[in-house]
Amino acid sequence: MNKISPSKDNWNALLYEDKHAFVWQYGEDLLQWLNPQPGELILDIGCGTGQLSAKIAESGAEVMGIDSAATMIDKARQNYPNLRFEVADARNLQIDKSFDAVFSNATLHWIKEAETAIASIYQTLKPGGRFVAEFGGKGNVQAIVQALYVAFAQIGLPNPQALNPWYFPSISEYTILLEQQGFEVSQAILFSRPTPLADGTVGIKNWLQMFGNSFLAPLSTEQQVEVIRIVEDYLKPTLYRDHAWIADYRRIRILAIKV
Ligand code: BEZ
Repeated sequence: MNKISPSKDNWNALLYEDKHAFVWQYGEDLLQWLNPQPGELILDIGCGTGQLSAKIAESGAEVMGIDSAATMIDKARQNYPNLRFEVADARNLQIDKSFDAVFSNATLHWIKEAETAIASIYQTLKPGGRFVAEFGGKGNVQAIVQALYVAFAQIGLPNPQALNPWYFPSISEYTILLEQQGFEVSQAILFSRPTPLADGTVGIKNWLQMFGNSFLAPLSTEQQVEVIRIVEDYLKPTLYRDHAWIADYRRIRILAIKV
């Protein structure tokens, strides 16, 4: 299968589960928007190591979890052997089933081709089916991105913008895409969610190594160390409080219906 993003291919599933549990813990709140019902067939896009798929299954719905990263799917299958997980690309969902709902938490900001993903999701839903998603919205991790750009400039590396893998749309931008596809948007909100990172002083370093790989991977080990040091210095006055890093997350959350 194709991959969503080169930066997600080699995700470290153990580091993800150990240090970034907040990803699915915050996502539990989104399940109230999904409101899964017994017997429904639900697709979980970007299921990671499977925790939210399992929560959905507790409702009595049948769940299929997909992720672009084989490492995540391997771990999801180990964690929940009774559920179905597959490596798949949200931009090209070739699944011979129609779903009552498509759910996605903290994934769609990795897909710059939003129109293609929306078309693919639309196609996989039954008429009347719902699309419930939360991901990074306009302004998400803006201070962290700015710090990365500053760090690249300071060590003389050009054009870090070209390495930015993320898509953080505004409500208007995203709902227009949904409506153009044929969705009716029932709810859409954009909100700040300052997110404490685990492990005290090394929290931002862990975050960069887990999620900022497309910025770090092209660099030498020495450059990576220097970039992380500059990012920490730049962000400390604003994102480090009481011995903990707090990432400047902003989420967009939507509920749309296939009409
Ligand atoms: C997010 O969940 O908002 C996010 C995670 C990793 C990188 C960028 C954003």
